[in-house]
Amino acid sequence: MTKTVKCALIGLGNVGRSFLQILEEKEQRLAEQYGLHFQVVLVADSSGVAVCESGFDPAKLRHHKFDGGKVAGLPEFLAERMPHEALEGLTCELVLEASPVNLKDGEPGLSVVRMALQQGIHVVLANKGPLVLAFQELQKLAVDKGVKLSYSATVCGALPVINIGRRDLIAADIAKVRGVFNSTSNYILEEMSNGRSYAEALTEAQVRGIAEADPSLDVEGWDTANKLVIIANSFLGIKATLNDVDVSGITGINQGDLADAIAQGRRIKLVAQADRTETGYALSVAPHLLPIDDFLAGCSSWEMGIEIHSDLYEIMYHKIWEAEPLPTAAAMLRDAVNIWFSS
Ligand SMILES: NC(=O)c1ccc[n+]([C@@H]2O[C@H](COP(=O)([O-])OP(=O)(O)OC[C@H]3O[C@@H](n4cnc5c(N)ncnc54)[C@H](OP(=O)(O)O)[C@@H]3O)[C@@H](O)[C@H]2O)c1
Repeated sequence: MTKTVKCALIGLGNVGRSFLQILEEKEQRLAEQYGLHFQVVLVADSSGVAVCESGFDPAKLRHHKFDGGKVAGLPEFLAERMPHEALEGLTCELVLEASPVNLKDGEPGLSVVRMALQQGIHVVLANKGPLVLAFQELQKLAVDKGVKLSYSATVCGALPVINIGRRDLIAADIAKVRGVFNSTSNYILEEMSNGRSYAEALTEAQVRGIAEADPSLDVEGWDTANKLVIIANSFLGIKATLNDVDVSGITGINQGDLADAIAQGRRIKLVAQADRTETGYALSVAPHLLPIDDFLAGCSSWEMGIEIHSDLYEIMYHKIWEAEPLPTAAAMLRDAVNIWFSS
C-alpha cells in the first residue's frame, strides 16, 4: 500500500525546483521502498499561490518555473491570497518551506510555519529564517500539536548535522563545536587565493544556485551565524538568538591576506564556533587563520564541515561536498520520508 502525502511547497527556486526534480526521478523508488507518494497540492513563489487539490504534475511545474514562469501564470493561481492563508482549511499533511531567508520579520516563512503547525500539519524547512527568529516558539507549537518540525536541510545542506546532534550524541556533554558552514564564502576564499576575483567567485556561486538570494548573508557571516543559532537551540540546549553571536564575515579579506596565509602554510576560513562556558556557550563567527592540518582548513572549495567535541563521543569530524542545490532538496526529502517511514 502506498500512502499519498498531500503537501505544500513554498518557494520554487533552486531548492524547490530540485525537490520537484527528485519527486519526478524517484517517484517509483519512494513508493516501492518507503510506501510513500508525495503529491504537491499547493505551491507558492514571489507572485503568489496556486492550489490544485488533485496534485500538480512535478515535471510540468518545474519546467514552467525553469522557463521563467510564475505561479501567477498557472491556471490554478489564487489571486490576493498569501501562502499561509491558502493553507487554512486545505487538506494537506506536510509543508515544505524553501522561500528566502528574511531576518527582519521571517516572512513569508514564519507565518506559513505557524499556520501549518497550528493546523496539525508537519513542517520541513530549508529556510533558516523562521527557526532563527522563533525556534523555541515553533518547537513548542509542534510539540503541543503533536506534529514534526524537521529542519536537517537548514544546516550545511545535506550534511546531517542536526540529525547527528539530536539523535546520535545521546547523553553527551558537548564542550565545543567548530565548523565551516557556508560554502559560498568558503568557495570565494579558495578562488581568491587562486587569483580569481571576489566578484567572479560570487557570481559562480549564484549561477550554481548555492548563494543566498541576498548574498550579503553569506559573505558577512550571517548565514553561518543562523546555522550556529539553530545548532545551539537544537542540540546544545541553549535558547540562543543572533544577538548572542559575535559575527564578522569575509568582506575584509583580500588576496594579499590569503597569499600571506598560504606562504605561512596556513589557510583562512570563516569559522563558526561554540565554546562551553560556565553559563552556556560563547558563540562566534569570524575568519580564522588555521594551520594546514586543521580539519577545517581541509574543508576546501564547495565543502562544509563540522567538528563536535564531547565527553562520550570524543571528537567527531563530518564534512560534505555540495556544489549545487540538489543535496539540500534531498535533505528535505529525507526529513519528509522520516516523518512517516521507520525501518
Ligand atoms: N540553495 C541552496 O543550496 C540552499 C542550501 C540550504 C538552504 N537553502 C535555503 O533554502 C531556501 C531556498 O533557497 P533557494 O536557493 O531555492 O532560493 P531561491 O532560488 O532564491 O528561491 C526562492 C523561492 O522563493 C520564492 N519566493 C520569494 N519570495 C516569496 C514570497 N513572498 N512568497 C512565496 N515565495 C517566495 C521565489 O519566488 P520566484 O521564483 O518568483 O523568485 C523562489 O521561487 C532559502 O531559505 C535558503 O537559505 C538553500
